[in-house]
Amino acid sequence: MTKVLFVCLGNICRSPTAHGVFEKKIQDLGVANIVVDSAGTGDWHIGHGPDARAVATALSRGIDMTHLRSRQITPADFNEFDYILAMDKQNLSDLKAMAPESFRGHLGLFLDFAVETANNGEVPDPYYGGDDGFDDVFDLVEDAVQGLINHLRERS
Ligand code: 4NP
Repeated sequence: MTKVLFVCLGNICRSPTAHGVFEKKIQDLGVANIVVDSAGTGDWHIGHGPDARAVATALSRGIDMTHLRSRQITPADFNEFDYILAMDKQNLSDLKAMAPESFRGHLGLFLDFAVETANNGEVPDPYYGGDDGFDDVFDLVEDAVQGLINHLRERS
């Protein structure tokens, strides 16, 4: 079993999008030995569903993520997950500060798995921007999800 955790700041825009796209992809592929979850480094949105703009963008592209709820990352997640993938460099440095010495998994930038667009390693935070930002997030996420799936298949 491989366990993948996507992490952003609020867990209502970027990481739920990655969660929803990855979940659909592994379902469509019939892959049973991968578990996916997402979390935020911040606590503002705990228990909330994803941002309505992120939900609308994903729905328009065939992904329903209305079942997801925001949660905050905890130290126990480092014992649980094999891949902890940050949406931007601030998320990554916050995660590095939390990671216990004993963590043996992969902690890195999600976009390091992108095939087409590295975008300097970051999925930009769309929260305070316009609707275009959510389309950009979705494009980056789709690309990196494909790369991550390729990577996981190569090592299985
Ligand atoms: P996310 O976006 O990290 O992609 O979920 C954000 C959501 C909420 C806030 C910031 C970013 N916020 O400041 O409340």
